[in-house]
Amino acid sequence: MEKHSFYSEKELEKEAQRLYEKLKKTHFSLDECKERAALTLEINRIKKEKNAVILAHSYQTPDIIYGVADFVGDSLELSRQAAKTKAEIIVFAGVKFMAETAKILSPKKTVLLPSVQAGCSLSESITAEDVKKMKKQFPNVPVVCYINTSAEVKAECDACCTSANALQVVESFDSDKVIFLPDELMAQNIQNQTKKKIISWKGLCVVHKEFKAKDIEETKKRFSGVKILVHTECSPSVVTLADFSGGTSGMINYAKTHLDESFMMVTECGLSDRMKVELPEKNFVGTCELCPFMKKNNLELILQVLKEPREEQIIEVPKEIRIKAKKAIDRMIKTKNLSD
Ligand code: 13P
Ligand code: SF4
Repeated sequence: MEKHSFYSEKELEKEAQRLYEKLKKTHFSLDECKERAALTLEINRIKKEKNAVILAHSYQTPDIIYGVADFVGDSLELSRQAAKTKAEIIVFAGVKFMAETAKILSPKKTVLLPSVQAGCSLSESITAEDVKKMKKQFPNVPVVCYINTSAEVKAECDACCTSANALQVVESFDSDKVIFLPDELMAQNIQNQTKKKIISWKGLCVVHKEFKAKDIEETKKRFSGVKILVHTECSPSVVTLADFSGGTSGMINYAKTHLDESFMMVTECGLSDRMKVELPEKNFVGTCELCPFMKKNNLELILQVLKEPREEQIIEVPKEIRIKAKKAIDRMIKTKNLSD
């Protein structure tokens, strides 16, 4: 790991202690916090110097979330934050579709994605051409796309949505049919909650498709009274076993506002890590899955992208795509959702 010799031993020790206080409930040891102290100090210094802000999704590693992020949230909260930040530079510790959404909402700002490998299996499952073909096949049927899509795909859709407002956005159309893409499992979950006919695509999240009903049943047997919180990218057979199902912010909210002692967060491991830090008095049990895309970002890349971004780390969206995609995102932002 690169050393930043201009920090004194005392400053490094203090920073390591600050990190360890936050991260000790997760898998981080004091030695790992010591290794990261110079990086977090340097990132936080350059961030101020360059008037940059770091937005982090809850699936990022705890050293990013508690070490350097200015704002942590779900896809909806992060896009709202990207739209209102006064910073000149947004470093998006998340995946590419999130950074593109930030660029669409703040076109004058520089938006940086630390890892160019931070894609998403859902986003990569569909192209703008696929959407055009679907629109021909189902003329006059409104198209709702999950935020986990490329800017080109969003530009072909009537509205965008996130896991926090998917049902509300679908219900906001008068038509009795709605195309919902690309997540096939989320489409099935919405179908179970609406009278509208949902026409779906065949995309899957590589993380959430892995959870099986038997994982939940085993956890329920092992930990009596455990509350099961499920992300709606999981299959309906898993969602039906949940005490709560929704997006990451809804899951956090449930754990924070219910008096129960133990919870299983049926989603990416970053969310249980976040809960272990923020709700140390509660137990987070059972299994979780790692998102190979979200975990491509790390502190070294965040420092590098802040100092000297490579061309491929600077997010650009062509104007004609941006204007069309923004309409779909604006419609989502304007739709009232239950957590508002
Ligand atoms: P949320 O919007 O619920 O945070 O989900 C984002 C995501 O990528 C889920 O896999
Ligand atoms: Fe995409 Fe799934 Fe990873 Fe979220 S968790 S970024 S939906 S692959």
